[in-house]
Amino acid sequence: MQKDFAETLIRWQKQFGRHQLPWQTEDPYSRWVSEVMLQQTQVVTVTAYFKRFMERFPTVRALAEAREDDVMALWAGLGYYSRARNLHRAAKMLVDQYGGFFPTTRTEWEALPGIGRSTAAAIVAFSFGRKETILDGNVKRVLARYFAIEHSLEGARATRDLWTLAESLLPDHDIESYVQGLMDLGATVCTRNPSCTVCPFCQSCKANQLGRQNALPVAKTKKTRPEKEATFFLLWTGDCFFVEKRVDKGVWQGLYCLPQVDGVVDELSAEQFWRQKGASVQNARKLSPVVHDFSHYRLHLYPIALKLRNESALPSGLWVKASEMQHVALPMPIEALVKAFFFH
Ligand code: ADE
Repeated sequence: MQKDFAETLIRWQKQFGRHQLPWQTEDPYSRWVSEVMLQQTQVVTVTAYFKRFMERFPTVRALAEAREDDVMALWAGLGYYSRARNLHRAAKMLVDQYGGFFPTTRTEWEALPGIGRSTAAAIVAFSFGRKETILDGNVKRVLARYFAIEHSLEGARATRDLWTLAESLLPDHDIESYVQGLMDLGATVCTRNPSCTVCPFCQSCKANQLGRQNALPVAKTKKTRPEKEATFFLLWTGDCFFVEKRVDKGVWQGLYCLPQVDGVVDELSAEQFWRQKGASVQNARKLSPVVHDFSHYRLHLYPIALKLRNESALPSGLWVKASEMQHVALPMPIEALVKAFFFH
């Protein structure tokens, strides 16, 4: 059962797996950038971002020498921005510590910021043919079904046991096809609603034999997402708006954002607040609220547009022309809000 798994998966991947993804090369730099983008984002979204990123920063040296604002601008909209900051930091470390060459072992990659065991394994398996397995959510689902694992996959013990199981399945050859096969099967066949009739394991999969394929893996314990509210100030005059760089630790660190305060504020208080700061406010009006989900909380955004008489000198921020906003790294909901305001 164990040995057949890899052989069957490799054969299936070669015939039915994905072979045209833009990062399918042996270049460790491409592999690293793409795996980091793919950590929390789907292939369809990553593809365009990956191509743009590689055009702009074709080598690890180019990335290491880039300004943080330029790296963030190419990441804007992908979310989980610590990935971009870590990628930039790691590029500098690779240039400083490895002279721009790439390490070839999983543990060396794991020592770099933003690279966990599964990402490191994917990089060295694809770039150097190292015998290492990945273990992400998709692979856990495949294993839970193939072996009909009836217990929860959460927690340290379950994770450790799944790594051991995943390692025991590794083949001695065709490691790239095997690892890609794990990804492809999880993404195209053994999905949440699986297509067992076209699965190479339709006979050998224990969950399928038991009719448990739709029940496994065991559902995660549901966490209730806390909700937060914040007021965002869209200070504008002519075709320009005002942004501040977020330097504090948090979800949008390193991005440019509209000034904000916690909670809900009315137009009159907003006007007073900004007049005190030296803004020549002409009027204030509420815009439609927006909801944005982060992995760990839901944010209700309450925007207020404040029309100013001029580009008032305000502390710590800059004025951006609406038609040039794509050059500034704005969080997705903020970009959408500003675009709707100026262009609709
Ligand atoms: N998800 C994570 N890494 C991937 C890769 N290299 N190809 C396709 N999907 C992936």
